[in-house]
Amino acid sequence: MLDPNARASHAEAAALRARGPAVLVELPGGVLAWSITRHDIIQALTSDPRVSRDFRRHWPGLTELPDGWPLASVALQQSLANTYGAEHRRSRARVAPSFAPRRVESMRPRIQATADRLVDALAAVPPGESVDVRQALSLPLTMTVICDLLGVPDVLRAGLGAAIDAILDTAIDAAEAIVRQGELQERLVELLKYKQDHPGADLTSDLLIPAAAAEEESSEQQLVDSLFLMLGAGYETSVNLITSVLSELLTHPEQATRLRAGVVDWTDVIEETLRHEGPVMYLPLRYAIDDIELGEGVLIRRGDPIIIAFAAAGRDPAIHPDAPDTFDPTRTDKAHLAFGYGPHFCLGAHLARLETRIAVTTLFDRLPHLALAHPEQPPPPIPSLMVNGPTHLDIIPTPATPG
Ligand code: HEM
Repeated sequence: MLDPNARASHAEAAALRARGPAVLVELPGGVLAWSITRHDIIQALTSDPRVSRDFRRHWPGLTELPDGWPLASVALQQSLANTYGAEHRRSRARVAPSFAPRRVESMRPRIQATADRLVDALAAVPPGESVDVRQALSLPLTMTVICDLLGVPDVLRAGLGAAIDAILDTAIDAAEAIVRQGELQERLVELLKYKQDHPGADLTSDLLIPAAAAEEESSEQQLVDSLFLMLGAGYETSVNLITSVLSELLTHPEQATRLRAGVVDWTDVIEETLRHEGPVMYLPLRYAIDDIELGEGVLIRRGDPIIIAFAAAGRDPAIHPDAPDTFDPTRTDKAHLAFGYGPHFCLGAHLARLETRIAVTTLFDRLPHLALAHPEQPPPPIPSLMVNGPTHLDIIPTPATPG
């Protein structure tokens, strides 16, 4: 069984990778799925038309799921992420222009202004005092960016963020999962009603609501789940990328020195973090729509669920034979699949890279002497099979004695 607390997810993935191209694992709720941890097999299966994300059409096991399945909110989400083939291409084409490089670039001034405001607050922390940079910078920055894009009013933001955080914990029991899923549904319906009553110049009003109205079979649940996809994908991931970049640099001061000396640049640091600590570990689920032979005696049968470990690809020794577990922004090949591969490749990759770069450069430029508050105590990882990142990262923005 995969550890639902994800206490050592990279070590777990390495052990699975060594066992074969696909290994049957037990997920929370007793669901069996083929875990894929090798870079080449992830590429092959994410671009193979015999593999679908559409649980309604291609998962016979759907009818046997237990009540309160902790992965349900993501795996059974009725959004474009869980569609297949032509239906997926149509839905994706509608929203893709909003995430194109030029459109994302136009968000830069607002992202920078938000980062400046948050870093100003960090600069005002008295010398020697510590603060959790995840809560003080990564989270409010990414939440502000995605909520501005979707037109989420200020009063609803904190509640939505907490409900989405809660749903990603994969170590909870069925009763707790039902409570958390209900809470998320309530928050999302509240948001949808608000947007229907108060349309604005935003992605929800311009695109999501009209697109759903145009689709004959579209239901309120599909609209709610599309909001969840955008909010969840846009915020839970970038929060972890920003926090992990900071964690990597502060736990590897020699790399921070190389960065200041110009030996490596911010792109090297961010891409190496994506390779080494990809923010998305497993994303449930995919389904074989035909029998698939993977070699080494492994046969995935039609209808079997497949779960891809995106963050494991970057540490595959087959493509990174030289110290794959070491954070080293100077390595020339930083290949990773942190944003996925194939038709479902992350729509928000430009946005995630931009907001991360703005967050970390603004912080390091303004507070060059910042340090970890507890260098001897690495923070625990988030208890989730899905997202990968530290639960908190306590820093001292201005050490009493800089240096
Ligand atoms: C560091 C930040 C991010 C990471 C690591 C990340 C990772 C991923 C991955 C691995 C997938 C592929 C899922 C699959 O094939 O099963 C994906 C899809 C997606 N991402 Fe991101 N993401 C990030 C940021 C964002 C942002 C900021 C948005 C903006 C809303 C976003 C929106 C999406 C959407 C809508 C999809 C579904 C695309 C589809 O199914 O066609 N992501 N992301």
